[in-house]
Amino acid sequence: MNTKIAIIGTGNLGKSIADGLLKSNSVNPEDLTLTRRNTSKLNDYKNRGINITNNNIDAVKQSNIIIVAVKPHKFENVVKEFTPILNQNHIVISTVTGVNIKDIKEIIDADISIFRAMPNTAISIQESMTCISSYKQNDDNISIVKNMFNKLGKSVIINDELMGSATILAASGIAFALRYIRASMQAGIEIGFESELAQLIAAQTVKGASSLVINSDFHPEREVDRVTTPLGVTITGLNKMEFNGFSSSVIQGVLSSYNKISNVKK
Ligand SMILES: NC(=O)c1ccc[n+]([C@@H]2O[C@H](COP(=O)([O-])OP(=O)(O)OC[C@H]3O[C@@H](n4cnc5c(N)ncnc54)[C@H](OP(=O)(O)O)[C@@H]3O)[C@@H](O)[C@H]2O)c1
Repeated sequence: MNTKIAIIGTGNLGKSIADGLLKSNSVNPEDLTLTRRNTSKLNDYKNRGINITNNNIDAVKQSNIIIVAVKPHKFENVVKEFTPILNQNHIVISTVTGVNIKDIKEIIDADISIFRAMPNTAISIQESMTCISSYKQNDDNISIVKNMFNKLGKSVIINDELMGSATILAASGIAFALRYIRASMQAGIEIGFESELAQLIAAQTVKGASSLVINSDFHPEREVDRVTTPLGVTITGLNKMEFNGFSSSVIQGVLSSYNKISNVKK
């Protein structure tokens, strides 16, 4: 049987997931169903042959993988609505922040495969970092879910207790990295580049730095050492950034977000 996927709650993240699934040919357009109440906002997808509906139950009936991407306060009601029609062929994946796997299991209260996945919006271009947790899963279902997210970037299985941390480091992390790019651009303009060129240079440089780490597994500081000539310009700039709190600012920002997500969950 073809994989049939429903995305329940197709907003920012849901659309990004749909885009990634389609680009990676993980699902045929006719096997993908997207839901939201205001379906007119999904007309682009409808025109491409994707099923669009505001009926979550119909979407679940037509699919075997159910990805829930509504806001946290909607999660329980939305899931309770379709729980009665779930069967053992379904795999439910929640991307919702702050609802842990045991809470989901309590809401669904049936012998159904349940996963949480924390992707980021780069999933739309198959470059997500997706952290996955599960509730007592068999290896087959773990492979199905992991294979799906591996086609959309990289994925790792983590303990559910770390999902809050994954949300900050990977999902919020996109915004943190983009702010670095913006700051770099602004500086680039001040030292002579037009905005568009500054953006390209800043963004491609971050991509290169990232690929150096991912492709080699070396610690980032090893690559820093290769760029910092004694008495050189790079170390002067780096030390000035650190003097002004660069690393500590990033760490404090991540911790503040983490503290907030931890308090929201309580
Ligand atoms: N954005 C990210 O980078 C990111 C990353 C990881 C995880 N998450 C998590 O993913 C979830 C979605 O985030 P988001 O940024 O995509 O939010 P969003 O843009 O608000 O999307 C949620 C969508 O759910 C739809 N919706 C609301 N009630 C519904 C219902 N009863 N049935 C079907 N659809 C319904 C809304 O559309 P209508 O109003 O038209 O129904 C809306 O488009 C959140 O829980 C968030 O924590 C987000």
